[in-house]
Amino acid sequence: MPKSEQAPMIETMGAGELIGRMRGRKGGLVSLGRDRGRLKLRKPEVEDGAGISALVDSSKPLDPNSTYCYLLLCRDFAETCVVAEDMAGVGMADEAGRTGGRGEIVGFLSGYRPPDRGDVLFVWQVAVDADTRNGGLAKRMLHEVLKRPSVRGCRFLETTISPSNEPSKRLFTSLARELQARCEVSACFSESHFGSSDGGEDRKTDRGADRGADQLGDHEAEYLFRIGPFDLERMR
Ligand SMILES: CC(C)(COP(=O)(O)OP(=O)(O)OC[C@H]1O[C@@H](n2cnc3c(N)ncnc32)[C@H](O)[C@@H]1OP(=O)(O)O)[C@@H](O)C(=O)NCCC(=O)NCCS
Repeated sequence: MPKSEQAPMIETMGAGELIGRMRGRKGGLVSLGRDRGRLKLRKPEVEDGAGISALVDSSKPLDPNSTYCYLLLCRDFAETCVVAEDMAGVGMADEAGRTGGRGEIVGFLSGYRPPDRGDVLFVWQVAVDADTRNGGLAKRMLHEVLKRPSVRGCRFLETTISPSNEPSKRLFTSLARELQARCEVSACFSESHFGSSDGGEDRKTDRGADRGADQLGDHEAEYLFRIGPFDLERMR
């Protein structure tokens, strides 16, 4: 039976249990290549669209999307999206006496509130620049969006994660633990939903890595991680 037609795996477990299952995978932490204090977290603006697109393109295994897609997120979904800007050198005068404008985009989180599920924040993509990983930035961006008035009334956070993406599983189960909430994992998008025919094995090859999922036509399944219920008022 093709992988995509097997009965969906549905698990329900507490965040602690899920983390326990994944323990042991985490090697030593890499040193943080950027100074935490230089990073400014804020809502994205249209001027950030190209920088976000470049960051996502270099953040495998995320699916690359058009810059236009990120421009729309910046324009219409900024309230539930976050960028992290490295402010190094910004504001310092150059040789001509001009002061710098924008810093490099080193982190991005996109989210939206599904219109038919009023108590849910759906987090779509989270990307952190490779030199900045393992320093808590992804977690900070999640906390940043959860603090905003735009997510008032949310009691659940949903995201989808492919089974091989351990850093992402680790990020969201850690968040669930901090929110003292359950994390339920269930089937969401199967490989066949992405039009894959061979279980997505090509994604793990150089060919898959070079071309990106959309162009290749193969894509791992994505499981739904649903965290909650939680009480955001406690975080304010
Ligand atoms: C997943 C990703 C966003 C995490 O960003 P990050 O800034 O490194 O994550 P954080 O430093 O905030 O770590 C959050 C938690 O995950 C753990 N974690 C993150 N990356 C890890 C790794 N590679 N190995 C082990 N643990 C990891 C951290 O230890 C931390 O756990 P803790 O809170 O229990 O201490 C980043 O690795 C990335 O951009 N990956 C490529 C794109 C991607 O896969 N995005 C996620 C899918 S939407």
